[in-house]
Amino acid sequence: MSIKDIITVPNETLKKISQPLEKVSTNEKKLINDLFDTMYASKGIGLAAVQIGVLKRILVVDLSTKDEKRDPLSFINPIIKKVSNETSIYEEGCLSIPDTFIEIERPKICEVEYVDINGEKKNLKCDGLLSTCLQHELNHLDGQLIIDHLSKLKRDSIIKKISKTKKNPDR
Ligand code: NI
Repeated sequence: MSIKDIITVPNETLKKISQPLEKVSTNEKKLINDLFDTMYASKGIGLAAVQIGVLKRILVVDLSTKDEKRDPLSFINPIIKKVSNETSIYEEGCLSIPDTFIEIERPKICEVEYVDINGEKKNLKCDGLLSTCLQHELNHLDGQLIIDHLSKLKRDSIIKKISKTKKNPDR
């Protein structure tokens, strides 16, 4: 169990495509534990392996609120099988893009096929925040970020601001 550093923009690794897993071994189980530790430490609701620099198609999610019992969900090789025509809009943040929130419209409902930590194939129909969160994390596995929904001008200005803050952490 350990907390890893989260990669932030403009790190090029975030644009890379993550690779599917052939089997779930001890290494992957350890990686999933690290993802949960890192996500909880940063108070996030979702984290993809690429965000800690591992290009494997693994992501974790926990939408429980502060007063609730933790509800850890992990997804290996997730694929979206179906989406609804109906959409919903959420203001999304991302641990790889500090202090940035962007309203994004996505399909309201999605059906995800994935492999769980025991190597079993599962299916999950998601609605609401879980649906949005999973679509956001799945985008990470294909190198896509929420700032890719913006114009180049806006995207560049956000990246510039974050790069500046990184160089002068006191400001
Ligand atoms: Ni993200």
